[in-house]
Amino acid sequence: MEKFVIRGGNPLLGSIRVSGAKNSALPCMAAAILTEDEVILENIPQVRDIETERKLLVSMGAEVELGYGRAQHRTSISCRVLSDPVAKYEIVKTMRASSLVLGPLIARTGLARVAMPGGCAIGGRPIDLHIKGLEAMGANITQEHGYLEARTERLKGAHILFDKITVTGTEDLLMAAVLADGETVMENCAREPEVTDLAAMLVSMGAKIEGAGSSVIRVHGVDKLHGTRHRINPDRIEAGTFLVAGAITGGDLRVTQCNPAHLSSVVAKLQECGVRLDIEGDSIRVRSEGNLRSADISTEEYPGFPTDMQAQYMALATQADGTSVVVENIFENRFMHVQELARMGANIKVDGRTATIRGKSPLSSAAVMCSDLRASASLVLAAMVAEGETILDRVYHIDRGYERIEEKLRSVGAEVRRLGNIFASKPAV
Ligand code: EPZ
Repeated sequence: MEKFVIRGGNPLLGSIRVSGAKNSALPCMAAAILTEDEVILENIPQVRDIETERKLLVSMGAEVELGYGRAQHRTSISCRVLSDPVAKYEIVKTMRASSLVLGPLIARTGLARVAMPGGCAIGGRPIDLHIKGLEAMGANITQEHGYLEARTERLKGAHILFDKITVTGTEDLLMAAVLADGETVMENCAREPEVTDLAAMLVSMGAKIEGAGSSVIRVHGVDKLHGTRHRINPDRIEAGTFLVAGAITGGDLRVTQCNPAHLSSVVAKLQECGVRLDIEGDSIRVRSEGNLRSADISTEEYPGFPTDMQAQYMALATQADGTSVVVENIFENRFMHVQELARMGANIKVDGRTATIRGKSPLSSAAVMCSDLRASASLVLAAMVAEGETILDRVYHIDRGYERIEEKLRSVGAEVRRLGNIFASKPAV
């Protein structure tokens, strides 16, 4: 298992470039299933989940090239032949976002077999709303032996009202609707920038979509979609993570090639904590002398404070003077980082979905365990201010969604090194 060794105490100084958004790239790669033509996606992040998605598409018969040379960070996908429209459990169990192929597969081929994703560290992660929407569009869905099978002659436009706001649910059904017969109206949709990015790609392929980014999306189905070349949005969560890194280390850091408009709630909260943030085009400069004020957060769907920034914010809150209350409204078990932070000296009490953080707590190095993607980021942030050398185990979790994070952080003064080879061990479930 690869590990990180991080020595705390260095303020981050300089600039870090943000990679493309994993959570945009994954639905956009799945959208290539909707056409026989070649699809080229640029600004693809070099992270483990993208490699998993490549394997998934290839296992179904697609041709996928993935290049990360200086000029590239690009993938070319051709789903001319989908010889085996099955998302196998061996792959789905390592990445539940594999369920994003369900909608495009049934829209393109009339048949999809997708292993049920199962839960993960942060919650049960059901896909009942994806299924409900596809059934409303005329899909006949059965479940057996851990697989979903969806069949239809051709999906029909429908009126869909999501019981809960779901990001990949909105994306999955959007991809189903673009080839359906007739009009689909989806209400209570997710408004995340990743939904808008996917919709922009689909429109460039010939889809007819109105309202992406709002809670009501209208789709007029078409018979066929053509190929496209699409550039993936910058990763707003990676950018937010680096803003917290600059703040927690008392540094002066420019986070570049990001989209500040996607980070409004995070920027506002950091400013409330006394962090200085200056937006300069597609960069945000973060400065702090280290004296941070406490502030409460309650995670909400976009444009509220993102659940994917909750763990990172909690690390910062341990260094703020006063009490911060963190309420996690989206997932039922997204406090896996709390115990690990406590082992480093943080003072955090959890009661259900509410964590109360009392700061400022001096953190000391410890051997800690990564449990999921954003919890891992939280531990990296804490380790950068802890006294001594912290060992983080199972860092393959962080490699799922952060491109070479140790190299980016080292380039601005962090003392972080990786033990073991990034590709040595297979990701456990
Ligand atoms: C997406 O997950 C992201 N993943 C997650 O990012 C992110 O945390 C989440 O949205 C919320 O913003 C990708 O985009 C690949 P949801 P998703 O469906 O779509 C419940 C990361 O760290 N729900 O919006 O799976 C669900 O249990 C990852 O990059 C149902 O009940 O999340 C949750 O409580 C982690 N039934 C809530 O809705 C359904 O059919 C929101 O989940 C679907 C969801």
